[in-house]
Amino acid sequence: MRSTITISLILLFCPFVTGFICGIRGNGTVNGYFEKPSNDIYGGCYTIPGEYPWQALLWLTYNDGHQFICGATLISDEFLLTSASCVTNATQIQVKLGIVDQMKGTPYNVFKVTIHPEYNSSYFLNNIAVIQARL
Ligand SMILES: *[C@@H]1O[C@H](CO)[C@@H](O)[C@H](O)[C@H]1NC(C)=O
Ligand SMILES: *[C@@H]1O[C@H](CO)[C@@H](O)[C@H](O)[C@H]1NC(C)=O
Ligand SMILES: *[C@@H]1O[C@H](CO)[C@@H](O)[C@H](O)[C@H]1NC(C)=O
Repeated sequence: MRSTITISLILLFCPFVTGFICGIRGNGTVNGYFEKPSNDIYGGCYTIPGEYPWQALLWLTYNDGHQFICGATLISDEFLLTSASCVTNATQIQVKLGIVDQMKGTPYNVFKVTIHPEYNSSYFLNNIAVIQARL
């Protein structure tokens, strides 16, 4: 589950933390800690709270009970953009924001998922979805 660990490293801190501006990339110098190379994701880097304040974690549950995580991008105070392939068939979707550790943070429930009407799961065409949550 290396990808699980990976995604946990690229999570965010958004409007909930003072000192960071939503939509503006942090300068990566908190506590003198700058991006350093990591083997967790090819070509990836560790991040710090506030560096990618729009990044969200989706915690997905499917009806066979298995769980999966995906990323999403916060695009307003209640909407997030993600891929249709992440949310298709999920029976429960929770959003976490403001974290760099997937086990932490408050999970918010999603109440509306809109998958692109021409999403083609065989060819991953139009692989995009908008989710709405009460954050
Ligand atoms: C980086 O951001 C922090 C927090 O906003 C700020 O205090 C610091 O001056 C900035 N450093 C640089 C080099 O811009
Ligand atoms: C979603 O469920 C349908 C019907 O069971 C299945 O054909 C499809 O492969 C599933 N899609 C994904 C992404 O799991
Ligand atoms: C998905 O796209 C392929 C390639 O264009 C097409 O052949 C197929 O019919 C599409 N499937 C659906 C369900 O639209």
